Amino acid sequence: MPVDLSGPLMAAFKKAKKEYEDAVQKGDVERAKKKALECARILRQLAKYDEFNRESYIKKAKKWETLSKEVGKRRRSTVRGKPMKESSAKPENEEREEEDKFRAYIRENLIAKSKVKWKDIGGLDEVKALIMETVVISALQRPESIQPWKGILLFGPPGTGKTLLASAAAGSLNATFFSVKASSVLSKYFGESAKIISALYEVAREEAPSIVFMDEIDSLTTKRSGEQSEASRRMLATLLTELDGFQDKKSDRLILTLAATNTPWDLDEAILSRFPRRIYVPLPDRKAAKEIIRINTRGLDISKLDLDAIAEESVKRLYSGRDLKNLCQAAVWNMIREENPDLHKLAELPYEKLRRRSLRTRPLEMRDFEEAFKRIKSPLTRKDIERYEKWAEEFGG
Ligand SMILES: Nc1ncnc2c1ncn2[C@@H]1O[C@H](COP(=O)(O)OP(=O)(O)OP(=O)(O)O)[C@@H](O)[C@H]1O
Ligand SMILES: [Mg+2]
Repeated sequence: MPVDLSGPLMAAFKKAKKEYEDAVQKGDVERAKKKALECARILRQLAKYDEFNRESYIKKAKKWETLSKEVGKRRRSTVRGKPMKESSAKPENEEREEEDKFRAYIRENLIAKSKVKWKDIGGLDEVKALIMETVVISALQRPESIQPWKGILLFGPPGTGKTLLASAAAGSLNATFFSVKASSVLSKYFGESAKIISALYEVAREEAPSIVFMDEIDSLTTKRSGEQSEASRRMLATLLTELDGFQDKKSDRLILTLAATNTPWDLDEAILSRFPRRIYVPLPDRKAAKEIIRINTRGLDISKLDLDAIAEESVKRLYSGRDLKNLCQAAVWNMIREENPDLHKLAELPYEKLRRRSLRTRPLEMRDFEEAFKRIKSPLTRKDIERYEKWAEEFGG
């Protein structure tokens, strides 16, 4: 019978954790690193003994491993050469520990790996070109007065490819991709959200080239509600300071912030002024719609389809890229169900047997799409679109 070692291991973990905390208190970075790694090692052993809590132990172990890398890395405490005002009166050790915690949080939760490439995006040629140019300029040798954009605002109706564009920018550049939803940082880290933002840009500088994608930036605006919380006010102020900060003179250090919103009219001057480039990401036109249909039916035979007719209908119905993707999926499912009527019965087969079978397919036909059109409804009206167009005319560019 295996011996249960979880008791002694737990005691060893507690001891190592205490020693880690002592080391942090004393500012002994080397020892703190060692102890953090020890904690991780013990947790990994515990994971072996405790099948039931395995995942949770491994997750904790990873946290300690990240922490061991973060210990002792200090925030650059100067902005434009002046020392930064310390906002809290916490003892230095405690503050250091707190910073390490935030940096670990950033590395664990906000860095995403992006595999999206430019060719996965239909239409939006101008936006793609602008982002590519920005990326290229940042990498080229150039006179000091020529600087790439630090921030680009993407605005437009839901589902038009804003998030996709940011992922493609990061994916094609192999940049570190930080994906941040302003509202969720606020709700999760309420009072500390400003610190999360400065830790975020600090890690972004270290990991450059970096793309910071700030989604739902409108949730930080002061315009929408008079009683905007102190926390979001501070978070916004920190973000604006980061966007104002000096451009790194080193030529290959791209840190591009792409912000996205569905409600650009809610943004106030403070935010807008940091994003001189504001790009309208509109609903797909016919040509773009065709491209998006092609992208979403890759690997299937579409020679029998009248793509022009499908594209035209989807433009008429004010479909977004997301609606088009759903349309294609629905059409594909219509075909699959027709060709494999007993699909649900196969659910009883063991997985290994299923792996040996293949799905029957046939070329997509117009009737698959006709059915699908009935199911996909755009939430937008002409009036909504006019509002975006008007804002784009007045403030875009
Ligand atoms: N231009 C496009 N080309 C290819 N696919 C697209 C395009 N636009 C949208 N899609 C599809 O729709 C999905 C949703 O798009 P995305 O998340 O980028 O929209 P969004 O503009 O960020 O929307 P939201 O404002 O709701 O966040 C994508 O994952 C993609 O499958
Ligand atoms: Mg999005």
